[in-house]
Amino acid sequence: MTALKNGVGASADQKTRFFLVIMRLNLKFLLISLCVTAALITFALWANCGVGQGLVPKWPQHRGDGDNPFEQTEEIDCIINQEYSIGCRKEGEEVYLPFSFLQKYFDVYGSLNVVDGSRRFDWTHSYGKVNYPKGAYDPRGIFMYFENYNVEMRDRVKCISAIDGVPISTQWESQGYFYATQIAQFGLSHYSKNLTEPEPRRKTVEDGERELAGWIVPKGSTLNRTLDRSHLSAGAVVSFSTGKSFDTAVLLPMDHVLDLVLSVDVLLKPNSTLCVTLQNRETQKLYRVYYILVDFLIGVQDENIYYGIGLNSTGVWKHLTRDLFVDLQKGLPQYASTDKRRKMRRTELKVIEISLLGNGSIDNLTLSTSEHIAHFYDAAEWLIRHQDPSTGGWPIPVRRKLGSGFGELARGWYSAMAQGHAISLLARAYYHSKGDKRYLRAALDGLKLFRIPSYQGGVLATFLGKYAWYEEVPDDAALVRA
Ligand SMILES: *[C@@H]1O[C@H](CO)[C@@H](O)[C@H](O)[C@H]1NC(C)=O
Ligand SMILES: *[C@@H]1O[C@H](CO)[C@@H](O)[C@H](O)[C@H]1NC(C)=O
Ligand SMILES: *[C@@H]1O[C@H](CO)[C@@H](O)[C@H](O)[C@H]1NC(C)=O
Ligand SMILES: *[C@@H]1O[C@H](CO)[C@@H](O)[C@H](O)[C@H]1NC(C)=O
Ligand SMILES: *[C@@H]1O[C@H](CO)[C@@H](O)[C@H](O)[C@H]1NC(C)=O
Ligand SMILES: *[C@@H]1O[C@H](CO)[C@@H](O)[C@H](O)[C@H]1NC(C)=O
Repeated sequence: MTALKNGVGASADQKTRFFLVIMRLNLKFLLISLCVTAALITFALWANCGVGQGLVPKWPQHRGDGDNPFEQTEEIDCIINQEYSIGCRKEGEEVYLPFSFLQKYFDVYGSLNVVDGSRRFDWTHSYGKVNYPKGAYDPRGIFMYFENYNVEMRDRVKCISAIDGVPISTQWESQGYFYATQIAQFGLSHYSKNLTEPEPRRKTVEDGERELAGWIVPKGSTLNRTLDRSHLSAGAVVSFSTGKSFDTAVLLPMDHVLDLVLSVDVLLKPNSTLCVTLQNRETQKLYRVYYILVDFLIGVQDENIYYGIGLNSTGVWKHLTRDLFVDLQKGLPQYASTDKRRKMRRTELKVIEISLLGNGSIDNLTLSTSEHIAHFYDAAEWLIRHQDPSTGGWPIPVRRKLGSGFGELARGWYSAMAQGHAISLLARAYYHSKGDKRYLRAALDGLKLFRIPSYQGGVLATFLGKYAWYEEVPDDAALVRA
């Protein structure tokens, strides 16, 4: 505007040139202002970082003892909505309400903490942590920030099923059930950890051919390395035969082993057992984890923990990938307590023995620091086996009531979250397996429910009568299903 006004009376050509000069000046000015602003912001941030506050902006500080050392704190009544009163403090013109009141009233969180030697109070809206996206979403990459998740250690995970290799949830039903959302989260967290963690340490202990271990074979028991006629491609495997009591078991004592993830191919004849003995390095206490041919999930008797690998696994090869620390902790919940003195740490445990009882064979016995991709595929395979072929959904097998005023969802409802997580996992399995079509097909089928309204058993709702909105817990579904 200024440019044109000043240009009145000049020729059109001059006017244009003048305008351009002013514009260039304006651009220059803009650039300089930008630089100055950037410098100021940098300085402000730097100044803030200097006191260890990082990117937290500051609210003007008011301290009675700062400006006026004689300013007094006085007690003052604070009337809440003219309904009741609480005791507050007044300092100058500022009024302070007790945090215990604010906490209840607004349902917020806060705690006194010591950071870098100085005391401070941390206040948050919720327990949830804010995670900012790290970049554009990649369906082959880390899933959100799941590399930080440790699904199996959650209290609401009863244990990892030794039949399926996936977690069992107790969130809404205490006896435990398969929850597709949690299973997908388990798989996605392991996939993400595979992309972010350092390479695992892996030691093959016995494979019947290249790595031969020093088994102790009691009199009357036998152990051979032979070709297995039912699985010729496996090469030589270790076959064992013992009596019924534990003093006849073949044993493999171990010493070095702090790597707590066991991988093994096993073929167990009826009444046979694979057992791992763990020791707490501080208390010297011994624990035994057994994998046996039963259909139950987990059984505990003192320091003995039993995981069922399924009657169906009798006499057939089965691959097991077990995090022994998790298997132990789920069996001895007292050691998973929030009490720091009793909580067991991973580094406290070592494997001291592997034993075999009964008749059977093993192969590829390995101990490692992690086996993320094996856990990931256990979750992917579970999703393949448990997808409903007609709907493409993973039904949630528990009743669910959100609260009063909501209907109750009958068993077998669908969740957009389960569907979405499962699809995210299957997309990665398709990529990682270099194109196994089963995963792609399951992922595509999993999309079907996103097109079906909740009141017809799908997960699609409408927000403001207009926008598609996918429901984690579809309330309308209760009306048709309950
Ligand atoms: C990730 O998985 C690959 C196999 O896909 C494996 O070779 C590698 O060791 C794994 N790394 C980690 C950190 O788990
Ligand atoms: C042991 O591992 C090898 C190599 O991965 C595999 O070919 C073989 O089938 C495995 N053994 C069994 C019994 O599954
Ligand atoms: C081991 O080999 C011996 C001699 O060939 C045989 O008698 C025995 O049954 C075998 N044991 C196992 C567990 O295969
Ligand atoms: C397994 O053990 C049960 C109970 O001790 C017994 O009844 C059964 O006969 C045993 N089976 C075999 C094949 O040894
Ligand atoms: C065992 O296998 C049979 C037949 O394949 C199947 O019907 C049954 O559900 C299986 N049992 C378990 C516990 O997986
Ligand atoms: C293993 O097989 C042998 C010979 O067939 C038998 O004597 C023994 O009782 C079996 N052990 C168990 C625990 O079933």
